[in-house]
Amino acid sequence: MKIFLDTANLDELRRGAAWGIVDGVTTNPSLIAKEGKPLEAQIHEICGIVDGDISAEVVSTSSPEMVGEGRKLAKIHRNVVVKCPLTRDGIVATKELAAEGIRVNVTLCFSANQALIAAKAGAYIISPFVGRIDDTDWNGMDLVRDILQIYRNYGFKTQVLAASLRSPTHVSQAALAGSHIATMPFKVLDMLFNHPLTDKGLAQFQKDWNKVFQPPAAG
Ligand code: E4P
Repeated sequence: MKIFLDTANLDELRRGAAWGIVDGVTTNPSLIAKEGKPLEAQIHEICGIVDGDISAEVVSTSSPEMVGEGRKLAKIHRNVVVKCPLTRDGIVATKELAAEGIRVNVTLCFSANQALIAAKAGAYIISPFVGRIDDTDWNGMDLVRDILQIYRNYGFKTQVLAASLRSPTHVSQAALAGSHIATMPFKVLDMLFNHPLTDKGLAQFQKDWNKVFQPPAAG
């Protein structure tokens, strides 16, 4: 499973990239707005930090405008994947951009039928929002499993990106489900390293080692 960071913050991206396990980045208008820089400049900087798929979302709502915006975003860097929302216009734009060879991440997916439509339009990635579905008292990970099954049934090449992940449990569940990609905030990626028994075991190894090989200096 590919691991993506769901942030537009350059410090977080640098820290994550330094661990060598970040395969790509997802952004959205809220995340870009948080950083306060124009979309194109921010995406350009992100592409210089992480060498992998970088999703940049259109902000217009009509398909001709989305296509125009998508073309511009795709020109920023060869790694840019254009993100279009799962609306009627977004699907028309996806079909058009895909026909031009521009890779599209269809976002704001909350149902299996929406995912089916996106795949038929030629989406490169579909983004089901797991956490936001959990918030409505449904199981977001069931949607990831359903989409994977539907795509398997018909041999769709669209990759499933488990989005809106909020905990390490979400990440392992996405991996167990067979999701192609999981995108997560920096905080969640950081938490994946943690286990109290790792810390305890390491402290014990160091203590035992030092007792024999680094005795306290005499005098
Ligand atoms: C995905 O690409 C979205 O940017 C993101 O995962 C949304 O997550 P949120 O529900 O935590 O805002």
